Amino acid sequence: MNRLKDKVILISGGARGQGAAEARLCVAEGARVVIGDLLEDQGRALAAELGQSASFVRHDVTLETDWARAIAAATALGGLHGMVNNAGIYQPATLMETDVAMFERHMRVNQLGCFIGMKAVVPLMEKSGGGSIVNISSTAGLRGSPGALAYSATKWALRGMTKAAALDLAPKKIRVNSIHPGPIDTEMLHVRTPEQNAARLEMVPMKRMGTVDEIANLVLFLLSDESSYCTGAEVAIDGGSTL
Ligand SMILES: NC(=O)c1ccc[n+]([C@@H]2O[C@H](COP(=O)([O-])OP(=O)(O)OC[C@H]3O[C@@H](n4cnc5c(N)ncnc54)[C@H](O)[C@@H]3O)[C@@H](O)[C@H]2O)c1
Repeated sequence: MNRLKDKVILISGGARGQGAAEARLCVAEGARVVIGDLLEDQGRALAAELGQSASFVRHDVTLETDWARAIAAATALGGLHGMVNNAGIYQPATLMETDVAMFERHMRVNQLGCFIGMKAVVPLMEKSGGGSIVNISSTAGLRGSPGALAYSATKWALRGMTKAAALDLAPKKIRVNSIHPGPIDTEMLHVRTPEQNAARLEMVPMKRMGTVDEIANLVLFLLSDESSYCTGAEVAIDGGSTL
């Protein structure tokens, strides 16, 4: 299929996990992809695997200068039609276990990074005729999550920022949507013990984790013109966890 033919897509935190699956699917659907991440070896290896349709930039989402470099890489590939704000960190801790440094770390990567990113891509997306931004929130942005105070704060913020930006950017033909994954089988969940992950799955009606390919398929839909009338939407992809 060619659902992203001639489009350029930028994916933050794209060197591994969900972002890497999205990069592979976007290229399979005809896109050229800029992969940004702090993980240089994995990012470069993925770009090499994907060939001329992909490039890697070392990209810390908390730095405006790094976003400028990512935009330059997209310009070199021919413009910008889609962006996935996928980079994120997760350090589980209850309210009383969370210190100011941990709270600020989550805010900088998960929330400030998304804000700078949305702002950075607008001029090139406008020049490219419009575009689609997908913000990766979480079920922790739809309901209370135990032992994840700082992470929850940022994922709720993404949900609100998505709707505010969708309103601001609609006149520029830029759509902004958020997705809210439940537990997905990536390295991010290795911070929990196997027992903690098993207990978490008990809360999922489908009794399993989601896969990176299931997430990539939803992101593809939101990046493509198939979702041309969707903006400001929040889509749960969580095996029924938030019902
Ligand atoms: N795995 C899950 O269960 C789950 C559930 C809901 C939401 N999410 C969200 O999905 C997104 C992708 O996570 P994943 O599951 O693929 O985990 P992951 O840890 O494999 O991927 C996160 C990526 O973000 C990158 N990153 C971290 N800080 C960065 C920074 N400052 N600048 C640039 N890149 C940075 C990491 O290097 C990594 O490649 C995250 O936003 C995460 O919060 C994950």
